[in-house]
Order: sequence, then C-alpha cells, then structure tokens
Amino acid sequence: MNIKLSLKNINKIKSDIELVFVKNIKKLSKVEQKLLNKLSFSTKAFDTYFDANTNKFYLACEKQKNEDLKLAVCSAIRAIKKLNIKSVKLSLVQNDKELKIQDLVEGLELGFYEFSRYKSDEKKKKELQIILCAKNSNVAIANLEKELHNARSITSSVNMVRNIVNTPPEDYYPEVMAEDALMIAKNNDLQCLVHGEEYLLENGMNAMFNVGRASRHESKLIHLTYKPKEPKGKIVLVGKGLTYDSGGLSLKSGAGMVSMKCDKSGGSAVLGVMNTLKDLGCEYEVHGIVGAVENMIGGDAYKPDDVLKAKNGKTIEVRNTDAEGRLVLADCLCYAQDEIENIDYIFDYATLTGACIVALGNQTIGTMGHSDKLKAKMQKASNTSGELIGLLPFNRYLPPMLKSGIADIVNSTTSRAAGAITAGLFLDNFVKKENKKKWLHLDIAGAAYSESPWGYNSFGGTGAGVRLTLDFIKNLNK
Ligand code: BES
Ligand code: ZN
Ligand code: ZN
Repeated sequence: MNIKLSLKNINKIKSDIELVFVKNIKKLSKVEQKLLNKLSFSTKAFDTYFDANTNKFYLACEKQKNEDLKLAVCSAIRAIKKLNIKSVKLSLVQNDKELKIQDLVEGLELGFYEFSRYKSDEKKKKELQIILCAKNSNVAIANLEKELHNARSITSSVNMVRNIVNTPPEDYYPEVMAEDALMIAKNNDLQCLVHGEEYLLENGMNAMFNVGRASRHESKLIHLTYKPKEPKGKIVLVGKGLTYDSGGLSLKSGAGMVSMKCDKSGGSAVLGVMNTLKDLGCEYEVHGIVGAVENMIGGDAYKPDDVLKAKNGKTIEVRNTDAEGRLVLADCLCYAQDEIENIDYIFDYATLTGACIVALGNQTIGTMGHSDKLKAKMQKASNTSGELIGLLPFNRYLPPMLKSGIADIVNSTTSRAAGAITAGLFLDNFVKKENKKKWLHLDIAGAAYSESPWGYNSFGGTGAGVRLTLDFIKNLNK
C-alpha cells in the first residue's frame, strides 16, 4: 500500500473511488439518504457500502478518532481489498472534523495486513494507492508529511514483527533472528552484538544456556543499541525470543504446542521498536536485548530437578522445563544490568504465561512492577496508543511460593494460583535493587498472537508492545 498527501481539490484528484465518512445519514444528500436507508446502513456499526454508479465508498463512523477511527478505516480497507480497484482518495476533513493521520494509517496498514507467504496460490499483491486530500486541513503540509512518515514507519515495524512472529519455526530459529537484528542495525545505524553459546557459558548465563541445550540451533543473545547525540536518558528493552517452545521434557500437549512459534513475540517486539527509533528521531539511548532460544526435547535436554545458576549467582531449581521463558529472561536481565549503567527504564516483553491469558484475555498486556508511578506512565501510553494493558499486582504473600528446598528459588510454583504474577516475581529476583522502580514486566502471552482476528489484527501475530513502547518513549518528552 502506498499512502500520499495531496493539496489538490478533492474533485481534481484522480482515483478509482472516494472514501466518504458517514457520521449522520441525515447530513447526506437526499439521494444518498434514500440509498443508504434502503440498505439499513447503520452508523453504529462500521458498515460499508460501495456505490458503483458514483464510485463513492461510504463508511459508517460515528466517532472519528482513536480506536473508533482505526476500526472504521480497517473495516473499509478490508472491503476495498476485495474490489478490483487501484486507488482510493479521501479528504482529511470529514464532517467538519480533521482526522488524525496516525489513526488513519494504523487502521489502513494494520487492517490491510495479511500473512500469505506460505500460500501456494498467493496472488501477486495489488499495489493500492491511497491519496489523502489535505486541501481543507488546518495543519501545515510539512507537519502532515512528517506525521505520515512517522505513522508509516511505526506500522511497517508492527507488520515486520507480525511477519517474524508468523514465520514457522523451521524457517525462523535463533540464528535467523540474529540475522534480522543485524539487518535492522544496518538499516538504522544501530550497534549490534550477537553472542553465541560459548559466550553464555563463559559469562555464567547458565539459565539461558540450558534452555537451548537440546536444540539443533545455537542460542543467540542479541544486543542492539540506538545512541543519539546527547541522549536524554537510557531505556533498556529485554525480549523473550523463544523461536519455538515445545515445553522441553515437561512436554506440552499436542494442542498446547500449536502456535508456540509465537513465543518469540517479546523479542520480536523489541526488534520492532529498535527498527523505528531512528525514523522517529528518538532522543533517548535505547538498548534492545533479545534472548533467542529454541526449547526442545532430546538426550541433551535440561531436566526437571536440575539446578541452574543464573548470571547473578542465584540458583534455580527446575521444576518444569516449560517455564523456560523466565530462565532466559533471568540471564538477559542480568546481562542488561551488568552491561548498561545508569538505566532510567527497563522493560521486559514476554509471552510468559498461559495464566496471563486466563486473567486478562487475548487483547490485554499483563503489566507488573514495583512503581505505581511508572505503571501510571505506561497506562498513559496505553491510552494514547490504543494497546490495552492490565495491571497485575505484586504483594508480600506471593514470593514465598517461589521457595525451593534445594536451591534459592523454583522456576515453577506448585500451585497455579496467580501464575502470571509469580512469573513476574520470579523475574524480580534478577532485577538489581537500584532498578526495582525502573522496571516493568509486560506479559504479552494473550495480546501477541491470536488464532482468530480481532480489531485491526488478522490471524496470527499482532505486533503487541511496539506501539505501546513507542508511545511511552514519545510521551517522555511531554
Ligand atoms: N510460552 C509459554 C506461555 C504461553 C502460553 C504463551 C500460551 C502463549 C500462549 C510459557 O513458556 C509456558 O509454557 N508457561 C507455562 C508456565 C508454567 C509451566 C509454570 C504455562 O503458562 O503453562
Ligand atoms: Zn514454556
Ligand atoms: Zn515459552
């Protein structure tokens, strides 16, 4: 899809169809009113109707902003996709109200997305041209152009993350993730370090190393750095990059294993954010750390009953090899805090627990941490980005559930109670004292992947976390 701005009068812009927002049917011409009423066109739903006589495409949209606008535009573009047309024009001012370019672009680009790389009958993708008429806009064209550029950069990163998450595990393993990181670094002038298993062993990262032991693919620790001139602060993003989670020897059920290619979503979201910072002119130094590992079975697999020593010296009793994400993240969090000084914010992203899906569903990111102030800041980013978060509270009574008879802590509690929170509390053991209030744990198990489409997400990966994080960073300047 190509989206461009035009300062021409809307009637002078050549295109196959025009997208018209309908807020109130009574405001339309008599002929149009008659037509839409005949069709029981409702402005309550995101109804669409294409009039082939006038080449007008009517889109019901009562509230022309935020998520309502994105969902309406998504509904339109999905219907337009089925038509045999090449170009669409629309005015940026609809019903006397200026539409926000970012909302428009998110609805268009995220709604249009589909993952068809593995379909044998994949048709040549149509190039769709969208022309946004800025003739009646009150915003200077230079600012509109900038908004368009930023919005397209964000949505293309979200769609990149969706592609990564959707790619099957046979084609996407730790080395491929590392190659993607190197490519992202090259395209965005980032620093990129990739460490292999030798490094993990030499540096006491045994928790992460052991998870990947039975895989034929070498584990990779990826460290990307974005460094602007005179950074205003330092942000660290750590992602779980399990390119496949079979559960290990505590093997998942057949049904439970389906879709576990999604277990790289946290690391992929980190890559997505890192891919956008330069374009947005981010003024913070940002580090992206990804633990790319495959959790498999085999004679060399790590076992329940094993005791692993993490990078910070803490010993972990493995009670369930399927609670592998927290082991990988434990060492990645340690690595981040050992390598990077004076951190202002440290967030981790992980499809960590099924319990988070039980608690919050498939749309909401479970958010945990020690600072109410920081959680409130993330809530603000949730409100502006439209990515939903739900706060899951720590309390003093839960940490004892992680006690081990043989080691410092267990990786999996005996009871399933508060499963998402005890996973967060496990990670807390690997957050240094000085960083406690700077840390948030984001469990994206539900939000990152869905086998049924919702909102402007299609089947599969959603790119969860990218827009939320970019909005968090953007809001820091306010
Ligand atoms: N990757 C899974 C969590 C998950 C489940 C993500 C469903 C997306 C959809 C994670 O590694 C896992 O298996 N967690 C276990 C933890 C348990 C053994 C303590 C779980 O949630 O069952
Ligand atoms: Zn697991
Ligand atoms: Zn996992």
